[in-house]
Amino acid sequence: MSEAFRRLVRMKIVVTTPTGNVGSLLAPTLVRAGVRPTLLARDATRVAPEVREVCDVVEADQGDRDAVVAATRDADALYWVDPPTDDDDPLDGYRRMSETVAHAVTTNRVPRVVFQSSVGAEGRHGFGEIDGLGLTEELLNATGADVTHLRNGYFFSNLLMDLDGIRAGVLTTTHPVDRPLAWVAPLDIATVAATRLLSTDWHGVQTLGVHGPADLSFAQVADILGDVLGRPVSAQQVSEQDQAQALAGFGMTPAQVEAVLGMTRGFADGFEPEDPRTIATTTPTTLGAWAYEHLRPALAS
Ligand SMILES: NC(=O)c1ccc[n+]([C@@H]2O[C@H](COP(=O)([O-])OP(=O)(O)OC[C@H]3O[C@@H](n4cnc5c(N)ncnc54)[C@H](OP(=O)(O)O)[C@@H]3O)[C@@H](O)[C@H]2O)c1
Repeated sequence: MSEAFRRLVRMKIVVTTPTGNVGSLLAPTLVRAGVRPTLLARDATRVAPEVREVCDVVEADQGDRDAVVAATRDADALYWVDPPTDDDDPLDGYRRMSETVAHAVTTNRVPRVVFQSSVGAEGRHGFGEIDGLGLTEELLNATGADVTHLRNGYFFSNLLMDLDGIRAGVLTTTHPVDRPLAWVAPLDIATVAATRLLSTDWHGVQTLGVHGPADLSFAQVADILGDVLGRPVSAQQVSEQDQAQALAGFGMTPAQVEAVLGMTRGFADGFEPEDPRTIATTTPTTLGAWAYEHLRPALAS
């Protein structure tokens, strides 16, 4: 291994969900900065071999308090993501994860935490699943650590969960199709996270919007996808009732359905993110560039 990929930065940075949309991009970003990150994964074999070679991998379930305490011992910084759980009520899972991270940060006196939160978490209630991220924010705020909550926009990668719809030329949502939202590339979030984790020159509790290059309505998103794919895509608003029926058809419990629908409801008329769009919250990757690189091949496979 070349000298460039040895640990050059003497910092223990623990990264959770290293196989997730953001975590999988954050680990290599830190490696490029000279860090040998510690990856907390529930199954080490799911981390790519070339990533495992330049990182320390600790196997732990994020719901296991003792394992998370052990994995974060002596950490200089922690990137925490609340992973999805299969609880009947997703908010129960978020509560468990919130309590786990707060316990580990307090026990180990982890000095610096960057948390993968969301636009809307500032509401604390009324945003469906995002309320769970609001709870994690609150419990982390009480630990005394320096904490930055990344208030991320809607991930471009969510589109990968609707490949059939996009193939059929229709993007469906309960969100009004002409109402703009912040949409962001996972790589932009990873980049912002890395800079916060590496910098020791910020303190206290902070929030930072990660909003992508522009707010986009679903109608605009559909037009951009149509341009990239070379065929028409349209956006169509569906009623909560129809969406609830469709989600229940996938076997989701009523609380899981509510956690999804509640997110859109939270962004209803009049919502303004606490972190406004500024040069600090605007990130570069466009939806068109992301779709060309990630969505086109996913649709082809
Ligand atoms: N999607 C959005 O628009 C959006 C916006 C803002 C915030 N968020 C938040 O971002 C988070 C999701 O992040 P993501 O999209 O980057 O991740 P993701 O792609 O959904 O990946 C989930 C990750 O969690 C891991 N995982 C699942 N259960 C685990 C457990 N019990 N213990 C340890 N690891 C576990 C998975 O590992 P395996 O490889 O083992 O499965 C995988 O790495 C959620 O908290 C969500 O609320 C999402």
